[in-house]
Amino acid sequence: MSQYRVAVIPGDGVGTEISAEAVRILNCAAEIHGFEVETESFDWSCDRYLEIGEMMPADALETLKDFDAIFLGCIGDANKVADHISLEMLLTIRKGFDQYVNLRPIKLYPGVETPIRTATPETVDILVIRENTEGEYSHNGGFFKRGTPDAFALQTGIFTWKGCERAIRYGFEAARKRAKLGRANGPVGRVTNCTKSNALNYSMVFWDEAFDFVAQGFPDVETDMALVDALTMWFVKNPDWFDVVVASNLFGDIITDLGAMLQGGMGFAAGGNVNPEGTFPSMFEPIHGSAPKYAGKRIVNPIASIEAVRMLLEHLGEEEAAGQIQQAVADTLGAGEIRTKDMGGTNSTDEMGKSVENAMRKTA
Ligand code: IPM
Ligand code: MN
Repeated sequence: MSQYRVAVIPGDGVGTEISAEAVRILNCAAEIHGFEVETESFDWSCDRYLEIGEMMPADALETLKDFDAIFLGCIGDANKVADHISLEMLLTIRKGFDQYVNLRPIKLYPGVETPIRTATPETVDILVIRENTEGEYSHNGGFFKRGTPDAFALQTGIFTWKGCERAIRYGFEAARKRAKLGRANGPVGRVTNCTKSNALNYSMVFWDEAFDFVAQGFPDVETDMALVDALTMWFVKNPDWFDVVVASNLFGDIITDLGAMLQGGMGFAAGGNVNPEGTFPSMFEPIHGSAPKYAGKRIVNPIASIEAVRMLLEHLGEEEAAGQIQQAVADTLGAGEIRTKDMGGTNSTDEMGKSVENAMRKTA
């Protein structure tokens, strides 16, 4: 029997309550599909920072590295700790574990309302591959002549050939795989290059070159490009055009919040920080924030966290369990009986979680 150790970092705000639902689904999947999961929880958070001056211990990566995967709730509470300090923790794990692919599926489930009229379950099925360890997030630069009229800041992006190439290649492989499974919007896979090489004349020109280089190895996959500003427009106007999108760290961050709206809101959007080689554990998370004002109220939607668990299990090779979770989520949302506040309903976080669990047990 397969056994997995999963580290759970609930984080701040609503992190505890949504993580509980994630663990509920993880345990249920283990029970039904005959594998074992042992979870260990870590209280790394803004409260910890206030108490002892650090979000996570200095040897956090050492502690996490022997787990099979990590579930992260949500980090940050600006009333307690400045965001650029607390969120460093997230970026440290992504970079430290070389989780160079940020996998962000954008899928609209039947029964979920979206504010975007063009978005339907038929038109929205996109996979964004966001480069996750370098680019605009390289943390290089500084403040200069601070406090003088000549003050300036420098923030330098780093785009390595290896970094661009491997993220883009992952996108092409994903498109090929999606086409085989018949999941792409059309018979062939298509990768759209999200770029801005008309203005960013070094970094994005280099990125485009990496894209063209990788594309040569995938004659069976269609290619396309969209400047990031135009892409935000096309996401809204013709979401059905998109299959896989590859994007740099910052651009991928921005377009996936728009993507979350296509899929009905932040309550539905999950992401995986993946180290494809498995040298280090990968980390899965809902992409929403920690919503401190809702903390403890049990009103936020746990679907994004449940989707993160689905991706975690898929990553571990538990495809059947992942598929069953997806079916249970679709059944629950499609039935429309349980709706959290973001969906215009009054059901609690745990009622939604339990409802997905029940749907899983029904089809077990
Ligand atoms: C995300 C978040 C983070 C990011 C922030 C909180 C640093 O927006 O995961 O999308 O920009 O990557
Ligand atoms: Mn973001």
